[in-house]
Amino acid sequence: MKVFLNKRIPEEGMQLLNHKDIELILPKKELLSHTEWLSYCKKSEVILNVGKENFNRKFFDECPNIQAIALYSVGYDHVDIAEATKRKVAISNTPDVLSQATADTAFLLMQMTARKASFNLEKVKKGTWTTAFSPLDNLGQELTGKTLGVFGLGRIGYEMAKKCKYAFDMPIIYHNRRRNEKIEQELNATYVPFDALLTSADVISIHANYTAKENHLFNQEAFKKMKSTAILVNTARGGFVNEQDLYEALVTKTLFGAGLDVTEIEPLPIDSPLLRLDHVNILPHIGSATIQARKGMARLAAENIVAFVEGNPMPTIVNPTIYS
Ligand code: DGY
Repeated sequence: MKVFLNKRIPEEGMQLLNHKDIELILPKKELLSHTEWLSYCKKSEVILNVGKENFNRKFFDECPNIQAIALYSVGYDHVDIAEATKRKVAISNTPDVLSQATADTAFLLMQMTARKASFNLEKVKKGTWTTAFSPLDNLGQELTGKTLGVFGLGRIGYEMAKKCKYAFDMPIIYHNRRRNEKIEQELNATYVPFDALLTSADVISIHANYTAKENHLFNQEAFKKMKSTAILVNTARGGFVNEQDLYEALVTKTLFGAGLDVTEIEPLPIDSPLLRLDHVNILPHIGSATIQARKGMARLAAENIVAFVEGNPMPTIVNPTIYS
């Protein structure tokens, strides 16, 4: 089968793709224009896709030969799953293998924001650290005993909650599409309505799957309900947060700070006003960027391809109903 891989992945995955039934199409060039990418898709039957190209109805109309897409990501917000399912195109993602790495990133951003780490680091680098020690400067917040509000208590949210509970003795509240009684018991976590999450949490960490319905859920109205000492952490998708409203909330001190690994536009434009704020820490979408997680993602994405090519169900299929 013709399998299009748009970017080289770690060796663990490349080795699996070296399979007698796979004719691998791997362009020499790393950065393809949309037109180039699409022309490779048109020539293929299966895709292992790295990145955020949109798999929408237009795509499926233009590439009717595609039978399966293995995503090199846990998120699948860039795929029209209903459309893929209607056309019996199998979609797989890479859950679990990146949960630790992504939760570590959320945990890091929470601490960076509590202590204004980027801002203070910049001071040292720019030579504007002028007073050796000042009792009143550079003051951040302690996290011990503060309440963590998890928005989306799935695999990554659970890992973040565990870290916060055991490192900082933080009580856990969460809001989710469904209650998770097992985790409630294990972490003594409390399910709360969305508004209560906003009003009660000292740190809100976003871990839900993103859909268009949640676009700008964290907006001016939400920020007004949050504590003025609260920290917002987002390692899920930039679309959850209205960045203009976040900026306003931070400059008017409606919120203490924000730690973002994802932004509405990626890469974040250099003129984003958020970059000028002391209480904002922004990372370049590195949630899963550890050697371990990327090896795991490569292996899992390739295993999904191999399973499909061999006529078996993909192990981490997102739309299993295509098989029913
Ligand atoms: C994921 O796996 O969803 C990461 O955010 C990379 O897109």
